[in-house]
Amino acid sequence: MNPVSEGGAVPPTGATGSTDVSRETWVPDDVIDTPIGAEAERAVRLLHAEARLPRPVSQRVFTIANQKGGVGKTTTAVNVAAALAMQGLKVLVIDLDPQGNASTALGVDHHPGTPSSYEVLIGEIPLHQTLQRSPHNERLFCVPATIELAGAEIELVSMVAREGRLRTALAELHNHDFDYVFIDCPPSLGLLTINALVAAPEVLIPIQCEYYALEGVGQLLRTIEMVKAHLNPKLNVSTVILTMYDGRTRLADQVAADVRAHFGDKVLGTVIPRSVKVSEAPGYGMTILNYDPGSRGALSYMDASRELAERGAAQRGQNQ
Ligand SMILES: Nc1ncnc2c1ncn2[C@@H]1O[C@H](COP(=O)(O)OP(=O)(O)OP(=O)(O)O)[C@@H](O)[C@H]1O
Ligand SMILES: [Mg+2]
Repeated sequence: MNPVSEGGAVPPTGATGSTDVSRETWVPDDVIDTPIGAEAERAVRLLHAEARLPRPVSQRVFTIANQKGGVGKTTTAVNVAAALAMQGLKVLVIDLDPQGNASTALGVDHHPGTPSSYEVLIGEIPLHQTLQRSPHNERLFCVPATIELAGAEIELVSMVAREGRLRTALAELHNHDFDYVFIDCPPSLGLLTINALVAAPEVLIPIQCEYYALEGVGQLLRTIEMVKAHLNPKLNVSTVILTMYDGRTRLADQVAADVRAHFGDKVLGTVIPRSVKVSEAPGYGMTILNYDPGSRGALSYMDASRELAERGAAQRGQNQ
């Protein structure tokens, strides 16, 4: 008789001495079991993340647009940008909204008189003279918006090539090694947003998981088609992101389902939850990734940024 097969005392092959190497930071399970412990553990992982996203084959420029106010355009611009920068990429946010909210969230100077997107737009100074590095990440940059931009919408009307001025100014981007550029638009379909749509090949539309979410999106899509037909043939709505999702309401699920039915796989799988911390961060001149890196809001923007980068890589693969 074989004593080994009877006793069953031999460990399975390979089981001896194995350790779980997938966890870089060991934290006792009883600590992770508390909500604060779990959040702290996530923050440690995020801040020490080794994960690096691949650089895109060529620079990707996005316009973030939705003429509906308060849907999460700026929050998405700064947090996706910060998440990409945190994962090793070099990112620029161009603040094209006179409210200057993106500049505030990125912690850059935008008092009146600061070299800004206004002077870039009217061709007074080149882009590189307006670049500011965010104090929160060495790879994160911003062209700020000052209150001077409020007059641009009207000034542009009488200018030559009024729809293409930003595109002309952004030609300089080829001299910079930014991997991603995001243009944050104001809540209107005026000349500022049109300039952004003419200047970028990709459009990212944030949609809030709320009643009337899709109202007005038809008008945005018609404007995009018009710009594509006459001014920027490469323009493409590549990405839709669902924001401010409140899992406690059935309405949020309904809206998310409607948006997915309408836009299909352009919609990121990651949904940004409604979270007080996300709305608090700009008040401290921070993105959620700096303000509370272990929060659900921060993690969801990390996930969204990864998806964006991976989808871009997949699309390029198909085109090659
Ligand atoms: N996930 C979220 N959870 C909670 N609050 C959020 C979230 N995302 C954005 N907010 C808050 O909602 C408000 C509107 O967001 P945001 O400024 O990003 O929208 P917007 O589309 O850029 O607005 P505008 O059209 O005025 O430029 C802000 O106060 C912001 O802090
Ligand atoms: Mg905004």
